[in-house]
Amino acid sequence: MMDFCMSLHPETLLAHAGTISDDASGALLHAPHFVTTFQRAGDGTYPGGYVYTRSGNPTRTLFEDTLARLEGGAACAAFSSGQAATMAILQSLPPESHVLIPESAYFGIGALLETVFSGKSLSYDRVDMTNLFIVKSKIRSETQLIWVETPSNPLCLISDINALAQLAHQNNALLVVDNTLATPLLQNPLKHGADLVMHSVTKYLSGHSDVLAGAVVAKDEALLSGIRQIQTLGGAVMDPFSAWLAMRGMRSLGARMRVHQESAHHVATFLAGHHRVKCVHYPGITSADVQTLISRQMSGYGGLFSFEVFGTAQDALAVTDRVKVFTRATSLGGTESLIEHRHSVEKPPTTTPPTLLRCAIGLEHPDDLIADLAQALAG
Ligand SMILES: Cc1ncc(COP(=O)(O)O)c(C=O)c1O
Repeated sequence: MMDFCMSLHPETLLAHAGTISDDASGALLHAPHFVTTFQRAGDGTYPGGYVYTRSGNPTRTLFEDTLARLEGGAACAAFSSGQAATMAILQSLPPESHVLIPESAYFGIGALLETVFSGKSLSYDRVDMTNLFIVKSKIRSETQLIWVETPSNPLCLISDINALAQLAHQNNALLVVDNTLATPLLQNPLKHGADLVMHSVTKYLSGHSDVLAGAVVAKDEALLSGIRQIQTLGGAVMDPFSAWLAMRGMRSLGARMRVHQESAHHVATFLAGHHRVKCVHYPGITSADVQTLISRQMSGYGGLFSFEVFGTAQDALAVTDRVKVFTRATSLGGTESLIEHRHSVEKPPTTTPPTLLRCAIGLEHPDDLIADLAQALAG
């Protein structure tokens, strides 16, 4: 029976996530523990193993165990946001560490290093993570961490996780992969040599634009101990309600990702053939070389792409002004499709082209999304 359960597909594990009742009622679902503190026995021990919600909570544990299992990791720590998770990883590095981050990725990690860590003990370089020669040339003896996001946001660049892990390990550094865009369904970076995986749980995992949360999954427990200490002492933990909502979202992740991806493929293909569109950045319609890499480390393409229009930033912004089904908003991974002019959101030194629009495809009928973009581009 155990062997059978160990070989279940991730979609099946997800569909059953949180369906472990821990009371005698027979309730199908885990009852959320909206509580801050736990009773101590007369002898001073904590019979349930929990003390205070900042250090641990059963609902958070259930979320952490589910994500660790999906990623094939030993342990997970769940945070109040993706950025809180990133912050804890950076804070856990030894003083005077050097970090390599992608030139093009979610701008938040660069913003943290540029502002919060500026003048403190971390130095960093931005590199093109798709070019292994450049990455290698930027590694120094103090380099403790290589951070990669693949696919990247918003350019959907694909980096070679296995090769980057080898480069990191040759220098006794860690490889961290931001797996937000792929989700654990499409990519498991730990299986390709990464040491830590970071998720903005806010996005596809929660799936309904109503939870702000993050997580770090580690290859082995020891890698998480410093991060956990920062989390417990600093308090940027995932609260029980967010953990419960995130679990509820994750139960439908398999079905949602299928629709996000199928629709993204349709819409991206339509845009690729449109006379006003200069290019489309989507892993599903990329070059043969990149396809080979994708097939080595991913089992799908995801639901996010970006495209560049001919003309100016104003021309791109005008397209967002005319959409009627898409919503003009940041973020991704919800049921509703979002469109965003990233260049005006990201601050210098952004590498995002001024004529680029990012589309996070939701769960609407793809024909409605195509019709909406067709009229917005025609205007
Ligand atoms: C790829 C990626 N990583 C990390 C983050 C940060 O996550 P959060 O907003 O949950 O702090 C985001 C947010 O947009 C993101 O898109």
